Amino acid sequence: MAISDQMDASEDGCVNPQVAAGRPTIGDLIEARLSRRGLLAAGGSAVLAAGGPALAAAPASAKPVPTPASFAEIERGMDDTHHVPAGHVADLVLRWGDPIFADAPAFDPARQTAAAQERQFGYNNDFIGLVPLPEANGRARALLCVNHEYTSTRLMLPGLGADFQLSAEQCAVERAAHGGSIVEIAADADGRWRPVVPSRFNRRITADTPMLLTGPAAGHPRMRTSADPGGKRVLGTLNNCAGGITPWGTYLMAEENINLYFMGELPGGHPEAANHKRMGVPASRYQWGRHEARFDLAREPNEPNRFGWVVEVDPTDPTATPMKRTALGRFKHEGAETVVAPDGRVVLYMGDDQRFDYVYKFVTKGRFNPRNRRANARLLDEGTLYVARFDAEGGVAWLPLVHGFGPLTAANGFGSQAEVLIETRRAADLLGATPMDRPEDVEPDAGRGRVFVMLTNNSQRKPEQVDAANPRAKNSFGHIIEIVEPEGDFAATASKWSMLVRCGDPSKPGVEASFHPATSSEGWFGSPDNAAIDPSGRLWVATDGNDDTGASDGVWAVVADGAERGLSRHFFRAPVGAEVCGPRFDAAGGALFVAVQHPGDSDVATFEDPATRWPDFADGMPPRPSVLAIRREGGGPIGG
Ligand code: FEO
Ligand code: CA
Ligand code: CA
Repeated sequence: MAISDQMDASEDGCVNPQVAAGRPTIGDLIEARLSRRGLLAAGGSAVLAAGGPALAAAPASAKPVPTPASFAEIERGMDDTHHVPAGHVADLVLRWGDPIFADAPAFDPARQTAAAQERQFGYNNDFIGLVPLPEANGRARALLCVNHEYTSTRLMLPGLGADFQLSAEQCAVERAAHGGSIVEIAADADGRWRPVVPSRFNRRITADTPMLLTGPAAGHPRMRTSADPGGKRVLGTLNNCAGGITPWGTYLMAEENINLYFMGELPGGHPEAANHKRMGVPASRYQWGRHEARFDLAREPNEPNRFGWVVEVDPTDPTATPMKRTALGRFKHEGAETVVAPDGRVVLYMGDDQRFDYVYKFVTKGRFNPRNRRANARLLDEGTLYVARFDAEGGVAWLPLVHGFGPLTAANGFGSQAEVLIETRRAADLLGATPMDRPEDVEPDAGRGRVFVMLTNNSQRKPEQVDAANPRAKNSFGHIIEIVEPEGDFAATASKWSMLVRCGDPSKPGVEASFHPATSSEGWFGSPDNAAIDPSGRLWVATDGNDDTGASDGVWAVVADGAERGLSRHFFRAPVGAEVCGPRFDAAGGALFVAVQHPGDSDVATFEDPATRWPDFADGMPPRPSVLAIRREGGGPIGG
């Protein structure tokens, strides 16, 4: 979500109270305790402690050190359309409103209905996942899994003035445009990916789709509402930003800025007041609560506790009920990328995208079974959630969010593991996690035992709040941290970190950017958000907020190894107003999928007067968030 669309931390009350108060935490105490005990038994499960034996150096990569990308770098700039390097083409795969079922009506932006939107591709595409299917007639096929993060109301719906009031039907259109789409795609003879409509796999998930809560917080009294006295059945998923595809081929949808959807006031003295404030609830961005009781805090004070989770969906079964996996914690989840540790446990890396919030990982208790897909169905319901503390000496301590550990007890309002998970942020505050500069994608590099953390920016960090892992006050451009897991063990609780790059214009004094000196004037960027890793280990970074530098958001390829570490080249540029999400390589590496989100948006843009009418450029047609697939003319690896 663009920063201009996101509630400012000072507005939504989300400032981490530990940071705001400048209070010391008990992190050092916990670290000392962990070091002494070596192995901690907590909550009935053994948890490997931080501070164990000295870390081995980063595993030597058997893979060749990549050479800099050889594609013809594009120019920085901003105009009404997208740009790719010479020799590449960008194919339009799906646009907002495209029918994905045989019975779906054609897109008619002047007469939108919820019924139509539920049968069409949704708004503001963000995460892109690909689940390969067996080839058919020699053509590659896959399930394209795309999140629809939010709606840009005045850009999406016609005829809205400054003080618009939405009807129940208009709010229902917005809810139907949220969630996700699962669409079968197939490559043609030229390698051009196209949607398959109809397909038995195609599915829309929306803010009204019935789903189940699972794991430790399911059914807890704080999860119960008048419509759901059992606390296990929820309607819909909200603000699905990035996500992940698990090793068993399920689709993870991360719920991010869920505070935007709630309005109204809690009854006086309500026990959820502090919890809701820590999540910025209510932000009253949307009007749904005028028509639906569940979005009105006065009527349903517990409803926000049922959002802010990671949702697991089986894309191969359109009838499968989506599951909100509460073991993964509740916060503003940016994404949830997975990797398998050497012992078979599955590790998820997750960022909490708010200024001064945290980086997490979850390690499953059970092991991935590559031979029996169904055996993995409940893997995400049991395991240990950790939050990261980045030390000045280059260590990362992963602190367990386990009930009974350290301050996570009834004395601090945590009656059970369910409550640790419902209030993950507060639990992490108490453990002394490192407040970061808006953690977005956290991308594991399975073959190299490492992880890259995108830190978008943090204009509110003060000089006295600077630390080694967040080294710039008023960090307008963000940075990228590399975490190396010892011996490639992604389940480890003690890791090493280093800075890959501090973003921004390296030629400007005072910015203190740290791109490789050979990076061109087109090659630097700001506000890293989403990322993908190519087979050679290059990091492909999509930005959200680079337009603050006067040039559109886009995609840059960054060398992460060898003498040219930090060398970056500009690969893709979005139309004005858009941020870029995804990105995702197809299985063969011949296409890079990108999601162009909120094209044509600005503080003043409307349906009638957008900043661009990309991608159709037709009179009366608003801009349409769309997924593109970029490939080389004549084939071959992307950016090779
Ligand atoms: Fe939805 Fe953190 O971007
Ligand atoms: Ca974003
Ligand atoms: Ca994002």
